[in-house]
Amino acid sequence: MKKLCINPDKKVSHINKEIYGHFSEHLGRCIYDGIYRNGEVRKDVIDALKEIKIPVLRWPGGCFAEEYHWRDGIGKKSERPVRINCCWGMVEETNEFGTHEFFDLCEELGCEPYLAANMSGGTVWEMQSWIEYITFDGNSSLANERKKNGREKPWKLKYIGVGNENWGGGGNMRPEFYGDEYRKYQTFVKSYPDNQVLKIACGAGDGDYNWTRKVLESIKKTNPYGISLHHYSLPTGDWGKKGSATQFPDSEYYHTIWDAMRTEEIINGHAEVIHSLENENNPIALIVDEWGVWCDVEKGTNPAFLYQQNSMRDAIVAALSLNIFNKHSDIVKMANLAQTVNVLQSVVLTDGDEMLKTPTFYVFKMYAPHQDAELLESSLENETENEIECLTHSVSEKDGNIFITLSNASLEKSFEIECSFDGKDINDVINEEILTAEKQAYNSFENKDNVVTKQFTDYRIENGKLIINMPPVSVISLSVK
Ligand code: AHR
Repeated sequence: MKKLCINPDKKVSHINKEIYGHFSEHLGRCIYDGIYRNGEVRKDVIDALKEIKIPVLRWPGGCFAEEYHWRDGIGKKSERPVRINCCWGMVEETNEFGTHEFFDLCEELGCEPYLAANMSGGTVWEMQSWIEYITFDGNSSLANERKKNGREKPWKLKYIGVGNENWGGGGNMRPEFYGDEYRKYQTFVKSYPDNQVLKIACGAGDGDYNWTRKVLESIKKTNPYGISLHHYSLPTGDWGKKGSATQFPDSEYYHTIWDAMRTEEIINGHAEVIHSLENENNPIALIVDEWGVWCDVEKGTNPAFLYQQNSMRDAIVAALSLNIFNKHSDIVKMANLAQTVNVLQSVVLTDGDEMLKTPTFYVFKMYAPHQDAELLESSLENETENEIECLTHSVSEKDGNIFITLSNASLEKSFEIECSFDGKDINDVINEEILTAEKQAYNSFENKDNVVTKQFTDYRIENGKLIINMPPVSVISLSVK
């Protein structure tokens, strides 16, 4: 029996809803075919994203952001220039999906837009004028152009990232150089009346603490809202041969889980650097704006399109990662899974007019009550198997409702978990759900409901405590009263 001790009276931090965010890039079939098809945004995808209560969407990249020029994507669609997507497969970029399409989509989804601005191939003026075009409500040529293009009222823009992976594809910069460039660009991120824009600096890949330190030393006086972090989990650990999304040995399962669990150590490392440099009146957030499992592409698909299936292993990675982000919600204020539709660890996949929900989708749906809840103090006994900790958990409170999520990554062990509430008795459990399947199980277009949530029944209440039986490879969510 493992003990989960919860203190219902001790709120630790606020879980920003943006931790449940997503990322969509002009890459492969994410935008075209995935989000946008036959001249319009797909209703099935919108409905699915609403179902998981998507709180924020990052766009237009990724690497693509550093070659994107927003003027290409406004005005009459038939007159928009066709470019080559040099990042992802040298395919045609028709620019049919641009600023209006993205902001209208976010409005329809009820989510915050998060723009990644081009700083290695775009000018300061280009960035500033994009913000004016989107957010200015008065009389200016840019605002009038927006109106002429069909949008009278400005949109809201809360988040802007200044650059993407500028240590790599975004210009191969040294941290000192990026720091100087960031200082210049951020000066021209203007908050026009009634729209406060929060600035996010380009952070490190994985555990590159030197990047975070050098950049923050240079930019800390500009009071950025946050600095980003990218961390992908690889089944084999080898970028040359990453491993299949659905056909994998136990060793690759454990490696993927291990790599995802490493997120916690990486967050702690960057948090230490941030805390040593931030001003206590202006805390700096960690924005994990790219994360997820990165596998080899599915056979017969374009290698540059990064299309991969999504198994129960992905669901475990999602569940444990979200539990880690919740646990560190004092500093992690946003996270964006890469990438929404048809690319890397997606929540939905499409094939022509067909769409399916992946196991990862169900985890986001199960975890949605954590959005904008208060993290409660809690601790859980654990056990290791093949160098991974089997269990992760989060407990939060909102409107008097205590919500618990648990993941069990073990391939072999079930766990009996006793949840106690600091001497307070619970009487009832509601909305209890479980997602469990064999590690390689996935949803295909032939069998879309192979891995779906079910009602969870294997629990009991004894002397005011909740006793849960958690099977191997499973995710559980429930509320207690
Ligand atoms: O998500 C795919 C790519 O991974 C992004 O474009 C880039 O930022 C990262 O390297």
